[in-house]
Parts: sequence; C-alpha cells; structure tokens
Amino acid sequence: MSQTPAPPTPAPVPAPAPVTGPVSLRGRTIVVTGANTGIGAAIAKLAGATGMNVVIDYVAHPELNQPLIDEIVAAGGQAIAVQADVTRVEHLQSLVDAAVDAYGRLDVWVNNAGVETRLSLLEDTEEKYDFVMDINMKGAYFGAQVAAKRFIAQGSRGVIVNVSSVHEDWPMPGNTAYCVAKGGLRMFAKNVGVELADHGIRVVNVAPGAISTPINKETEADPGKIKQLNESIPAGRIGQPSEVASVVLFVASDEASYMTATTVTVDGGITQGAAGL
Ligand code: NAI
Ligand code: BGC
Repeated sequence: MSQTPAPPTPAPVPAPAPVTGPVSLRGRTIVVTGANTGIGAAIAKLAGATGMNVVIDYVAHPELNQPLIDEIVAAGGQAIAVQADVTRVEHLQSLVDAAVDAYGRLDVWVNNAGVETRLSLLEDTEEKYDFVMDINMKGAYFGAQVAAKRFIAQGSRGVIVNVSSVHEDWPMPGNTAYCVAKGGLRMFAKNVGVELADHGIRVVNVAPGAISTPINKETEADPGKIKQLNESIPAGRIGQPSEVASVVLFVASDEASYMTATTVTVDGGITQGAAGL
C-alpha cells in the first residue's frame, strides 16, 4: 500500500506592517506613556501615520526621540516628546498640559509604560515591589485619572487604553509582582470602565503575549530560550510591536465604540498552549 506523503507544514504567518490605523482617529490627539521604545514606539508610529497628533512620553534615552519624531513626520503625522515619570502624578498632569498646549485637546490616553523584575515572592524586596507596582499599576491608575478629568473638562468622549499583559490572569511563576500589577489592571479596566461610562469614556485593556521588545531581550538573545518560546506559541513565533499597536488603535477608534470595561488579548494563542518564558 502506498503511503500518502505528509502535507508540508506551513511557515508561521508573517507579521504584516500596518500602514495606517482607523481613519476615525485622524486629527485626534493621543498620549502614549513609555513611548520611545518597544510597543509604545509602535503605537506612536502607527498613530502618526494615521494622522493623529502624538505625544510621546519618555523617562530615559532622549536620543531615541528625534528619530521617532522624524519617522512620524515623514509618514505625514506630527509628534512631540515630553519627559514624564508615570509614577509622579504631577508629571502625568504635565503630559495632559503638553497635549493641550500643542494640539488643543486630548482624545486618547494609552497607559503603556511597564517594567518587570522577574522575581518570585520569596526573592522580592519592598523596593523592587514598589518599583513594579508604581510604574505598572499606580502610573496607569493616575494616568487614567488625569486623562478622564481632561475629557470631562473639554466635554468630549475619550478613550483610555491600558497595555496590560496576558499575565492579567495567566500566572508567570518567578514574576509575581508584575503579574499582580497586571492582574490589578484587569479589574481596573472593568471598574473604571463602568465608573466612566456615564461620561462617554471607554476603558479597554490590550493584553499582549510575548512580543519582540527590549523587555524580552534576554530571552531573544538566547537561541535555546527563543526557540522554546516560539515553539510554545501556537502562532509559531514571538509577536511584533506593530501587531499590538494595530489593536490598540482599533480599540481607541470609533469602530470599537461598543467596547469598554474589558480586555482584548493579542498573544498568538500562547495562553492556550504550554507555559512561555
Ligand atoms: P519596553 O521596555 O520597550 O517598554 C517599556 C517602556 O516603559 C520603556 O520605554 C520605559 O522607558 C518606560 N518606562 C519605564 N518606567 C517608566 C516611568 N516611570 N515613566 C514612564 N515610562 C517608563 O517594553 P515593551 O514590551 O514595549 O513594554 C510596553 C508595555 O507592554 C509594558 O507595560 C509591558 O508590561 C507590556 N507588555 C509587554 C509584553 C512583551 O512581551 N514585550 C507582553 C505583555 C505586556
Ligand atoms: C512579559 C514578557 C513575556 C510575555 C509572555 C509579558 O507580559 O513582559 O516578558 O514574554 O508577557 O509571557
């Protein structure tokens, strides 16, 4: 009996490079925290290419700002970079003020800044716990507050997007404070989405899986670890920042007008497979 050859395994679906985001965002103003690297930079670039006015928040590496602004301007957008530490409420307010001074209004606020320490409960210290919680959770909490107050003051609808993580509700042993902070963001979007609905303000979390950014540079630099990670992802590969940015802009747009108080996962299926790295 002749054997039918096994069909060839298709290569993983490649990441497309989105050219622009939803047209309903054109002319609107967006603030993105932690935006001169990784996912934040991808959101800033796509927002600029979509015709939004972009405020790039950063805390470190100012040398990264001008090339990013140049890229946004070359794509037909406009952007400014403003230094602000998301753990300081007065700095968050200065981002709102900068957006209003430069562009007259604020429409979309993205809490993207985040850090992880990869420590278990038994390894953690008070200082490192505070570092993770202050940036990931407190920064998003008061970022949403200053944005919502501005939306209400200008009498407009607005959208708050939190870049959370699959670790909103998927344990990552050895990264406990980070998971606790992202878990907090899950409830934050639900609670605040309900609180702010009467003002026409939407709150949506975007929860990425493993994405190729500086946060994962050690995993990506280790051929064994990245192979194991890619094999644990049903899509067959780590994600690209642009693949998160396109979802962030979609949920921020009028096309997502009925989405609030919820989380959208963008993970190549990783949470449905074996544990990642
Ligand atoms: P990243 O390290 O490139 O981005 C984090 C950004 O936050 C950096 O630009 C950093 O300077 C900024 N930041 C840190 N402390 C800050 C502070 N006090 N004030 C203002 N900005 C501050 O890494 P990535 O991956 O782009 O991270 C962006 C977000 O995506 C984070 O919230 C992260 O938790 C989340 N995420 C990332 C995933 C990934 O696999 N790359 C997966 C799931 C979530
Ligand atoms: C973490 C990454 C990790 C990814 C998937 C993210 O929240 O920051 O380090 O690769 O989740 O587990």
